[in-house]
Amino acid sequence: MRLVFLGAPGVGKGTQAEMVSAKYGIPKISTGDLLRAAVAQQTSLGKEAKQYMDRGDLVPDKVVIGLVEEKIGTSECGKGFILDGFPRTVPQADSLAGLLVGKGLSLCRVIYFVITREEVINRLSGRRNCSRCPAVYHLEFVPSKKEGICDECGGELMQLSDDRKETVESRLTVYEEQTFPLIEYYREKNLLAELDGSGSVGSVQGRLIALLSKS
Ligand code: AP5
Repeated sequence: MRLVFLGAPGVGKGTQAEMVSAKYGIPKISTGDLLRAAVAQQTSLGKEAKQYMDRGDLVPDKVVIGLVEEKIGTSECGKGFILDGFPRTVPQADSLAGLLVGKGLSLCRVIYFVITREEVINRLSGRRNCSRCPAVYHLEFVPSKKEGICDECGGELMQLSDDRKETVESRLTVYEEQTFPLIEYYREKNLLAELDGSGSVGSVQGRLIALLSKS
C-alpha cells in the first residue's frame, strides 16, 4: 500500500495517517515531522528549513525530496508507506514518480482530504502538539485527558509557531498557489480519490477505511 495524503494544512492528514499506519502496519512519512525533528536537533538542514517554516513558506524542493528519498529506501517501507504532506509541488511529485519508477514501484492512491477554509482555521488554531512525542491534540475536538499534558508520554503540550493566525493565512495561500495544481495532476493519472474530511475524527476514519478497502 503506497499512499499519498494530500490536502490543506490542518485538514487532518496527520491524524488519519497515524491511524492508517497503526491499522495496516505501514510507516507514515511526514515531511513536516522530519523537518521539525531537524529543527529541534539544530542540524544545518534544520536551521535552513526553520526560516521557511516560520514564514509559512515551503522548504526548497531539493531538501524535502532528499529527506523522502532516504526514508523510502529503508526496509521499513517494504510493505508500503503513507506520505503525509509530500509531495506539495509539481516538481516534488515528478521526483517522487521518478524515484518509485527507479525501484519498479508506483503509487496506489492519492487521498485528497476536503474541508472548508473556516474548519481548517478552527482545527489549526486549537491544535496542540506534544513537546516530546508525535502525538497531536485539539483543545476542543481531540482534548488530552489532563489539560496541557500528553496522554501518551506525559510530555507538555505546546502550540507550534507556524499555527499562529498570521502564519496559518500564509500557509493557506502557499497551499492554494503551489499545492492545488497537484489535484489535477493526480486526477489525470487516475490516482486521486476525494475524501470528505469534515466531522469527527472517527467518522473521517470510517470513510477513509471504506475507501481504502474498495481500492
Ligand atoms: P506540515 O507539518 O506537513 O503541515 P501541514 O501540511 O501544513 O499540515 P498539518 O500538519 O498542519 O495538518 P494536518 O493535515 O496533518 O492536520 P492534523 O492531523 O495535525 O508542514 C509544516 C511546514 O513544513 C510547512 O508549512 C512547510 O514549511 C514545511 N514542509 C512540510 N512538508 C513540506 C514539503 N513537502 N515541501 C516543502 N515544505 C514542506 O489536524 C489538525 C488539527 O485538527 C489537530 O489539532 C487535530 O487534533 C484536529 N483534527 C484532526 N482531525 C479532526 C477532525 N476530524 N475533527 C476535528 N478535529 C480534527
